[in-house]
Amino acid sequence: MYRILEKKELSMRNIWYKIEAPHVAKKVQPGQFVIVRAFPNGERIPLTPVMWDREEGWIVLITFIRGKTTMRMANELKPGDSILNIAGPLGNPAEMEKFGKILAIGAYTGIVEVYPIAKAWQELGNDVTTLHVTFEPMVVLKDELEKAVGRHVLETVPIDPNLDFPTNMKNVTKRLVEKVREMLEKENYDLVFMVGPAGDQKAVFEVVKEFGIPMKADLHPIMVDGTGMCGACRVTVGGEVKFACIDGPEFDAYQVDWDVLIARTGYYTDMEMRAFQEYMKLFEQAVQGGEQ
Ligand SMILES: Cc1cc2nc3c(=O)[nH]c(=O)nc-3n(C[C@H](O)[C@H](O)[C@H](O)COP(=O)(O)OP(=O)(O)OC[C@H]3O[C@@H](n4cnc5c(N)ncnc54)[C@H](O)[C@@H]3O)c2cc1C
Ligand code: FES
Repeated sequence: MYRILEKKELSMRNIWYKIEAPHVAKKVQPGQFVIVRAFPNGERIPLTPVMWDREEGWIVLITFIRGKTTMRMANELKPGDSILNIAGPLGNPAEMEKFGKILAIGAYTGIVEVYPIAKAWQELGNDVTTLHVTFEPMVVLKDELEKAVGRHVLETVPIDPNLDFPTNMKNVTKRLVEKVREMLEKENYDLVFMVGPAGDQKAVFEVVKEFGIPMKADLHPIMVDGTGMCGACRVTVGGEVKFACIDGPEFDAYQVDWDVLIARTGYYTDMEMRAFQEYMKLFEQAVQGGEQ
């Protein structure tokens, strides 16, 4: 059992959990992740230790409230409660080398996964610029990134209440692609790295490819065990099948079959939507019952 030491809402739909997990804190390296099961009847979801203290034995996870499990965690977990299982650290650490001038990009909550890697690259002697593109009310880790890397660039997009969510998201993609092009035109980078939705990673890759700059990306396929036993997380890289949980999550963006990844990520969308709606109905009934 893993005790929650702190929980707070960092910005819209972004929740911070500081959790006692000494075995993870002792070994985790930037780029690795954990698999969390928060409830007895709950699913396993992959999340990323963003910060940790090896001596004190805690890690910080930051979740974007996306669907049923992350919403349930936000609604039902409070400081002092325990999380049932945290397995990890899992996956390969990010490659720690002197690449030179690096542009590390996070779209939406993807920036929380960029943070430990960008910080470690900067500490190693790289010149790291981070770029965070997100909706205005969803900014996270601004102060921390400004301290950790050479330069932190924040680009926010307002949420237009007259537009549906997918159209608002298209505006973020547009700003992201424009900004990356502008930055690559202005300065020479030796490496680009990105975490974010697969569609946005593909869109950024198309721009980076024009400039011929090496690019790495942390991939987010569906995961179940996270230990290489099921293949749910399979991705096609360089024409070969790889398991993101043991071969990744970091891959060479030039080798990734982006269309296969995008198609597989959306496979359970209908079921996820149904699970979310059913949970919210029950949750609202419980809240109303409690208020009476
Ligand atoms: C290596 C890795 C590290 C991650 N780190 C973070 C993190 O630090 N913070 C964070 O907010 N999110 C992170 N994610 C994404 C996170 O796992 C999903 O947000 C979460 O599973 C959503 O669960 P849900 O029930 O709330 O939403 P759902 O309704 O289940 O899912 C909504 C969408 O989330 C994605 N998703 C769902 N289940 C999984 C799964 N088991 N594995 C991967 N993606 C899934 C799918 O794209 C799906 O369409 C990470 C994913 C991976 C693969
Ligand atoms: S999640 Fe099962 S093999 Fe990667």
